[in-house]
Amino acid sequence: MTDDPGTPAIQARGLRKSYGEQVVLDGIDITVPQGTIFSLLGPNGAGKTTTVQILTTLLRADDGDIRVGGHDVVADADAVRREIGVTGQFSAVDELMTGRENLLLMGDLHHLPRGESRRIAEELLTRFDLLDSADKAAKAYSGGMSRRLDLAMTLVGAPRIIFLDEPTTGLDPRSRRTMWGIIRELVAGGVTVLLTTQYLEEADELADRIAVLDHGRIVAQGTPEELKRLVPGGHIRLTFADHTALDAAALAVGGAANAEDLTLAVPSDGGVRSLRSVLDRLDTAGIEPEGLAVHTPDLDDVFLTLTGAPTTEKENV
Ligand SMILES: Nc1ncnc2c1ncn2[C@@H]1O[C@H](COP(=O)(O)OP(=O)(O)OP(=O)(O)O)[C@@H](O)[C@H]1O
Ligand SMILES: [Mg+2]
Repeated sequence: MTDDPGTPAIQARGLRKSYGEQVVLDGIDITVPQGTIFSLLGPNGAGKTTTVQILTTLLRADDGDIRVGGHDVVADADAVRREIGVTGQFSAVDELMTGRENLLLMGDLHHLPRGESRRIAEELLTRFDLLDSADKAAKAYSGGMSRRLDLAMTLVGAPRIIFLDEPTTGLDPRSRRTMWGIIRELVAGGVTVLLTTQYLEEADELADRIAVLDHGRIVAQGTPEELKRLVPGGHIRLTFADHTALDAAALAVGGAANAEDLTLAVPSDGGVRSLRSVLDRLDTAGIEPEGLAVHTPDLDDVFLTLTGAPTTEKENV
């Protein structure tokens, strides 16, 4: 990495890739500042893995200016490889070897002295809660354990930029949370993370910035908050004791009244200012709501709005 903290850890401009006639990436721009988490969010076949492979020098783009750690991925591929760690969508774990052996092998690949390699392996086994199973063959590991070992192997070389391709797909909610904790710790230590995910919740939880990828194009990019703001549908939902109060409230603040459940939905960005304004106007009109809930659009709403389709169960086309 260049010493200038202003240099983005990852920068791609006009990234393109086709397989024969099929355009897989159609001009992608990505900038990831150092020490942040960037999430590439998209359904099956969107081009996530292809992007990761190009950024990590495993695949050549057809076109585009791509720099990782300040180095050009084509002209300076070796320099890029020295800076990065990659946990692919499919495991790099050798199932016939034990967890410890897998880690030691990574140490050898990084040309670490044996003593150093052993020290790092013990440290990672402890950190990833794998010490008890360290001497079992990896084929006996559960999916979550195997995923943790896979990430631990990526960390042997202490990379400053880490690519995680769907790190939590197939994990149960608890293992997923464990993985999130590990990823947050890495970033707290100054590491830059680019992760791909199909889960809106995951991008929302972890990422400083999210790019929504659909059919090889970035259809939206921003902080989770910015993306949510792109989407209409945010509202304040007020509940009233009776029809008289409901009608009076609708007159005072507008919105859509529902006579059946005595609620009023007032369009809002969910911010404090808009909430205060609605409550002030009700107060002036002498109306007291019984209940209040704020609905901010979630990332599911964002994806639906941007692509016209939900993220889940969308088949490769
Ligand atoms: N080696 C290849 N040859 C031909 N087409 C390919 C190749 N690799 C990927 N593709 C196509 O490129 C598109 C994007 O694939 P990619 O693996 O990048 O998607 P993805 O977003 O990672 O999907 P998933 O969520 O299923 O992992 C798909 O339509 C896929 O069929
Ligand atoms: Mg993939």
